[in-house]
Amino acid sequence: MSYSAITKSTAIIITLLVIIGILAGIAWWGWSRTPAPATTITTPPTTPTTTTTTTATPPQAELVIYHWWTAGGEREAINAVFQVFKQKYPNIQIVENPVAGGAGSVMKSVIIGLLAAGTPPDTFQVHAGAELKEYVDAGYLAPIDDIWSKLGLDKVIPSTLQVMCKFNGHYYAVPIDVHRSNVLWYNPKIFNELGIINKFGDPRNWSVDTLLQVARYIKQQRPDIAPIALASRNKWPVTHLFEVLLANAGGPETYVKFFTGKFNYNDPNDPVVQTVKKVLTVMATMAKEGLFNSNHPELTWDQAAALVAEGKAAMFIHGDWVAGYYIANNYKYGKDWAAAPFPKNIFILLSDAFELPKNAPHPEAAKDWLMVVGSKEAQEKFNLIKGSIPARTDVSPKYPDPYRPETAEDFQKSTLIPSAVHGGIAKEAFMTDLHNILTSMLTAVSVGTPVDNAVNTALAQILQSVKTSGLASFWKGYTIDYFITKR
Ligand code: GAL
Repeated sequence: MSYSAITKSTAIIITLLVIIGILAGIAWWGWSRTPAPATTITTPPTTPTTTTTTTATPPQAELVIYHWWTAGGEREAINAVFQVFKQKYPNIQIVENPVAGGAGSVMKSVIIGLLAAGTPPDTFQVHAGAELKEYVDAGYLAPIDDIWSKLGLDKVIPSTLQVMCKFNGHYYAVPIDVHRSNVLWYNPKIFNELGIINKFGDPRNWSVDTLLQVARYIKQQRPDIAPIALASRNKWPVTHLFEVLLANAGGPETYVKFFTGKFNYNDPNDPVVQTVKKVLTVMATMAKEGLFNSNHPELTWDQAAALVAEGKAAMFIHGDWVAGYYIANNYKYGKDWAAAPFPKNIFILLSDAFELPKNAPHPEAAKDWLMVVGSKEAQEKFNLIKGSIPARTDVSPKYPDPYRPETAEDFQKSTLIPSAVHGGIAKEAFMTDLHNILTSMLTAVSVGTPVDNAVNTALAQILQSVKTSGLASFWKGYTIDYFITKR
């Protein structure tokens, strides 16, 4: 057999292994739940790119890394960390695998496939909290207590975040940022023109009902624009809106009880069930009354964010990577965009992190990467661009916008709860169901199903998934207080 034939057959075997792994991974990811309509994968994984180092010496080792930061702001932020790494470790070549699809909507199944096939990368983007716990529970990750102690992270990472990186007494990930999911982005020109704040007060204090009234008012005054921007191409931004409305309508305890399955899902009068029903009704009503942009099934989160800055939509409820997107695209704070925590007294947090898979091909390079991720320099550069605040409390970048100083302060003063959509609290199998159920509910309403019928169907499907996805058993032994930092 010639060398090229061997290479070819080896390539076929590796490809088959990866495909089998991906299928096994998808099966594992969604185990023990009622089958739901499959998530549409709209953007295929991109091919690995090698980031060349500027050194004259040929690279001695590689760092194989996966992440999903491909949108404006995200891309520039991770590039800044790669720069820091290249300066420190010029002999390590970065083999980068960016997988497009915000919130890891595509990358997570690719990673599960690689892990299940026994061919992990050296490190990959992960959310602290439930998402990390799933990998730890499956036995895929190595503890990294040594990295935490070398960096002295237990002294500079807030305790709320520490517990999201620590399971069974060991640290498993190094967090790079803190993002806030509950933010209302708005177009200041439209708000001024319609006197929204004079009429309805500061959006920081709006209830879900006020939001609905404001959206109706905008629709009436400016029928040419969308009151609320939405992006449902990757589904998760719909669930993102749901999680923010749920926290607003029900408060931190209801939110935590729902996403951990710690409520009486068989009782239609349970307060958690009632609040979920209320939020579903508000979302379905918004769809019915045309309060979202009609092209939302085609858009990704960054395209929805652009609608606000371009004056085609008035508001967008989304996480603060939107600030990174606006800054990277030169949209001006106060002119093209403004932001209000929604509501101010609650901070739905999430954190991006990196870890060390067992059997990583280059574990030393992976540890060097983790040391960079946890360093002051990388955290300062990354977060300045990303729209987030650093995970380390001893780094204070000079933010170009007034939004971040406010969020940094709120992180100290507001009640903290983890984001469900961004891997902080709920089991992935349940979240996948929720993405499908909520998106289908909006579609049903838009093709004429009455709001009540669509809501009742969605509610029944959600409660069924709470039961069958094993939501409650995932956090067995943990109390509600574990998930809430009360202020
Ligand atoms: C989140 C992630 C953020 C941001 C966003 C959109 O899940 O934590 O860093 O990138 O997805 O892709």
